[in-house]
Amino acid sequence: MSEGARPLLGRLESIEVEGLAALREAEDEEALEAARVRFLGRSGALTEALGEIGGLPAADRPDAGRKGNEVKGLLEKAHEARAAELRREARAREASQRDLTLPGRRPFRGGTHPVTRVIDEICDIFGELGFTRVRGPEVETEWYNFTALNIPLDHPAADVHDTFYLDEGVVLRTHTSPVQARVMQAHEPPVRVVVPGLCYRRDAFDASHAPAFEQIEGLAVDEGVDFIEFRSAIDHFVRRFFGPEVKTRLRPDFFPFTEPSAQVEVSCTICGGAGCSTCKGTGWIEIMGAGMVDPAVFEAVGYDPERYTGYAFGMGPARIAILRHRIPDIRLLYEGDVRFLRQLAGPEGG
Ligand code: DAH
Repeated sequence: MSEGARPLLGRLESIEVEGLAALREAEDEEALEAARVRFLGRSGALTEALGEIGGLPAADRPDAGRKGNEVKGLLEKAHEARAAELRREARAREASQRDLTLPGRRPFRGGTHPVTRVIDEICDIFGELGFTRVRGPEVETEWYNFTALNIPLDHPAADVHDTFYLDEGVVLRTHTSPVQARVMQAHEPPVRVVVPGLCYRRDAFDASHAPAFEQIEGLAVDEGVDFIEFRSAIDHFVRRFFGPEVKTRLRPDFFPFTEPSAQVEVSCTICGGAGCSTCKGTGWIEIMGAGMVDPAVFEAVGYDPERYTGYAFGMGPARIAILRHRIPDIRLLYEGDVRFLRQLAGPEGG
């Protein structure tokens, strides 16, 4: 080694020792920054020493340069390592101050809509009685929507005020009943089907009406299906869906496609029959229209009305969901507001 480089090499060595110590022992970020400035800063000890290399005799410069770079690398690495360590310590300190007993906020991942759940439950209960779940088209001809069901086209239900016409003789179905005719045309008895699906009516969208709404149609046809089978199927459904304490009664009504026709009512699920605002003081709530299939419907689809009998029913699952959850306004079911829906989400939601 050349003699001329000796003093500078000595200084570089002590810068190395002192610099490493200062950087490694810096207690906090402030001390670390001070040490960096002191040794690596623009007028720091190392920077100054490196600046002097150029003033050495040419033969001495390589040794001094090599040592200078080595010290610079060591100090920079020590600075980086200590900085990382201090950051880690700060994070750990912060974490130890967090309240880990606070319950977490789980995101809402969605769930089955309350009306869909009611539909699935109703179809499953009728499934226990041998009913199959089928679907039909939402765009229907007047023939299926009205004529096949013994509804004359001058009947108020066919009036343009209630029905959305898409074209001459083509409508958005106003109920799921037209699927009765489609199923009977496609299958010989025995027939037992439940038909959920959307229906459309020119109704105002208010607290108890929606222009598009779900219905579930039911149809059972075979030889010897009588009123007793009809009544017991309905009873079974009501007890399974609403609970064993809930009673059923049939009130005479009229539908063109059933004879006799009835309105099925259940004892009020809110007051138990004593009378309240939900049942308007009567103790009973209407849940569906039903009856024995009118022979005219069998004739329309080519079934022999002398040989076959059956019953049919139709209900609105949104209304049933409203009863079940005591929802004050049917529109809540259509707005898709997660703050509302998450309260009623099925077990897969939440
Ligand atoms: N289709 C009727 C409606 O939308 C409901 C209905 C009543 C369906 C009696 C039926 C029934 O199958 O037998 O108002």
